[in-house]
Parts: sequence; structure tokens; C-alpha cells
Amino acid sequence: IASSDTLFVLFGASGDLAWRMVVPALFDLYLDKHLPERFRLLAVGRSDAGDAALAEHYFKGVAENSRRGAPPPDAWQAFCGMIRHIRIDVSAPEDFSKLGKALEIYETEWGGKAERVFYLATPPSLFERIALGLGAAGLSQDRDHVRMVVEKPLGNDLDSFRRINDALCRIFEERQLFRIDHYLGKETVQNILAMRFANPIFEPIWNRRYVDHVTITVAETLGVGKRGGYYEHAGALRDMVQNHLLQLLCLVAMEPPVAYDADDIRDKKVDVLHAVRPIPRDTVDSFAARGQYAEGWIQGAKLAPYRDEADVDPHSNTETYAALKLYVDNWRWQDVPFYLRTGKCLAASVSEISIRFRDVPHRAFPASAGLNAQPTRLIIQMSPEQGIVLKFMAKEPGSQLRLRLVDMRFSYMEAFKTDTPAAYETLLRDVMVGDATLFMRADQVEAAWKLVMPILDVWAENPAADFPNYAAGTWGPESADLLVARDGNSWLTPT
Ligand code: BG6
Repeated sequence: IASSDTLFVLFGASGDLAWRMVVPALFDLYLDKHLPERFRLLAVGRSDAGDAALAEHYFKGVAENSRRGAPPPDAWQAFCGMIRHIRIDVSAPEDFSKLGKALEIYETEWGGKAERVFYLATPPSLFERIALGLGAAGLSQDRDHVRMVVEKPLGNDLDSFRRINDALCRIFEERQLFRIDHYLGKETVQNILAMRFANPIFEPIWNRRYVDHVTITVAETLGVGKRGGYYEHAGALRDMVQNHLLQLLCLVAMEPPVAYDADDIRDKKVDVLHAVRPIPRDTVDSFAARGQYAEGWIQGAKLAPYRDEADVDPHSNTETYAALKLYVDNWRWQDVPFYLRTGKCLAASVSEISIRFRDVPHRAFPASAGLNAQPTRLIIQMSPEQGIVLKFMAKEPGSQLRLRLVDMRFSYMEAFKTDTPAAYETLLRDVMVGDATLFMRADQVEAAWKLVMPILDVWAENPAADFPNYAAGTWGPESADLLVARDGNSWLTPT
């Protein structure tokens, strides 16, 4: 149980993020007894909907999105007893004082200071206004007990990120700011550090002497659905690479931390981003590939092309697929390519990191043994499979000498026989206890923006002549295959 009394103020309470992610996660935390005994969810919105209407709206969200499905009636009743709707117009400064009064009333009733969490599940265009409103009403000043949570997208480019961030940092101290990248809350992602640094056997080979290249794949079968309006201005590079994929790269490539401590871990991660070789504008085509889906088929269902999606320009230049080749210029990783790829409407929904080891230095087996099979790989499976697979060569049983790639497998379900918490559960709990380890520090976000800016600029200035260039339901454009083929590599089909 998070021990301190908590007032959780949710801005954007009637929006999609609150409905789909935040409230279901809070409810699951409640079921697992991870919420403090004295807890209130203050749902801030502009509508006049009362507590009952809001609870009903959230009920559907929880039923559809909680990992446990429909809420048990008694528990739901009790949870709803902790939700209060507060009507606030964020453009009216006096309304923030009203919010302050409401918070004080709870604290008086509870007989002491509570942790105050301000969670912005609103469009980013409101971040600055809300931060200023909270600041002007004196609601940001208790540095030890007040936290501010913001969601991506944090800006649309480096300049807009700096603007938003400066505004937040004028009101809050860095230690109060919790910037969510939900990938960091996933169990399988957290386990990357456990695997690397709680075992003695991986680190000695986790470097350029043994690793040939690393592939990070986050593929989705879904298209942009109803999010065309947002996605048109984002694209795969901003939506996924600038944040989720680069965070994964950091976890795979970082040096060991001295302690499992928010600052130490984030220092080591930002070191990776600083070491990534910048991509000069005139070489973007050698380091990045983009794609946009045409119509196609996935699992027997016909999918429309991206340009036919709602709120999408019929001549759109937005990429729904991005692949990058990066180098991390340091002692550990010099000249080891890191290939990153992500896209919508691909052949399968799968997220995994594949560490491809170098070939053996000398082949003692005859060619007839089939040594040219696939290379030894370690695969960190994030979804839908959750586990780690080591693919290595073994001798096939029989009188002939034949070698074959086999799997040594760890599966979460088999090992722990328990459901893993959703990323948002982990992250919300961490916010409540003030642990920022799994959140992005400003310097990380800034470094990530710097890295992708030349690509974003070149792509914006040069519309892709070949869009749409991959059929929905395939593994993406040919240019992405070429990107790795130039190094003699290939994207292996995920496991
Ligand atoms: C979000 C992106 O951050 O991550 C979405 O905005 C994407 O476009 C989603 O679909 C993927 O998250 P997950 O957890 O389903 O892999």
C-alpha cells in the first residue's frame, strides 16, 4: 500500500486517456490494495456531469480496458466512493483557487498534509496554462508533496519541447515532474535491467566483441483508427521512435548503474543518447527509411490505405512506418549497428529486441552440418509473448552430424504463474510514492529530440515520392530492407 494519503487530481478527466488508461489502472491498483487507504480521485473537467454520470462512464472504460475485465460490483462501488468530479475551467485563474480549497478540505478532514498528484491527461496545448494556473494559485510550492505528471507528446520538435518544458520548469522543480513513457512501465522492459545487471553471464558478452548488431522491433497490426487527427501531425518517428524506441535503445546499451536509483539510471541512459552518432542531413537516406501503408489484408480483413483514414489528408506525407540505423559511439558499442523499426498495419503485432551475436571465429564443423543456419541470438520478447529466448546451435539427434538452431526459453507466465501489472499501474504507483526511476528526465527527452530532428526536417522538406509504399499486412517498405541489407544484414521475422 502506498502509505501516504493521496489526492490525485486528474485533468482531462472525461478524455480518452483517462477512460482507457488512467482510471482502469487506478482501479486495478485499488483491487490489489496498492492505493492508500485515504485516497481521492478528483476528476477535473468542464462539463456539469455529476459523480454518478462520471462513474458510469468510467465503468465502461474499466470493463473494456482493465486487465481484469468487468469490475466486481462491491469493489466498484467502494472505488466510486473515492471519485469526485470537480468542475474547473482551466482558462479561469480563480478556478485554480477553488481547486486549492477543495484539496485543503480533504487535508483538514484527514488531519494532515496529503501527497498531491496533478495528472495532465489533456492535450499538450493545455500543459502550460494548467501549470501556470497551479503555480499562480500556490499549488506547486510544496516541493516534497506535490507532483506533476505529463504525457507525451512533449512537443512536436526540439523547439516546442523546450517551450513546454521551460514553462513546466518555471513552476515545478525537476524532481516534481514525472514525464510518462508508458513503455518504461512494462514489466518486460523493466526486466531488461534485471537481466543485464542481476546476472553475471550477460554483461561480459554485451559489447562490440561479441555482438554483431541489435534489432529493436515494435510492430503493430492496427492502423491509426480514430486518431488520424493527431497522427497526421505526428507520424511514426515522433509517435514511437523519439520516445519508446529510443528508451529501449538506452536500456539495451547503457552502462551498469552504481545503484538502482532514479538519477543514476537516468544518467546512464542519457549517456547513451549523447553517444549516438548524429545523423547529418545529407545522409538521412542512408540511416533512415520511411513508409506509409497502402490498402492490404490482415488476418482475412481488408484494410483501407492510410490516406483514406478519417482526418487524414488524401495526399498525406505522414509516415506510418520508420526504420533507423544508429551507432552508439563509445567503447562498448563502436561500429555495432542498432536497427530500430516501428510501424502501423504491419504483418503482426510484436515487440522484441534481438541481440545478434557474432559468428564463431572458426568453423570446425563441416559445411554438411548446416552451420550456415541462422546465427545465435538473444531475444527479449516484450509482447505478445513475454519472455527471453536464446537461439543457439545444437546437434540434431541421429548418426549424422547436423546442426540446428534451437530455443532456450524463459516465459513470464510459466515462471511466475501470475498476471503482470499493466504499465500504467506500475507508473501511477511510482508517482504516488515519488519514485521517478521509470520516468523521463528533461535532458533525455531533449537529447532524443535532437537526435531525430535532422530526419524530421529532411522528411518534411522532401515529401516521399513513393508513398504509399507498403501494403497493409506486410513488414514495411523495401527501403527499410535495403537499409539493413547494405550492411549485409536482414530484419529477421520476429519470433
Ligand atoms: C502510443 C502511441 O504511445 O503507443 C500509439 O501513441 C501506439 O500510436 C502505442 O499504438 C503502442 O503502445 P503499446 O503499449 O500498445 O505497445
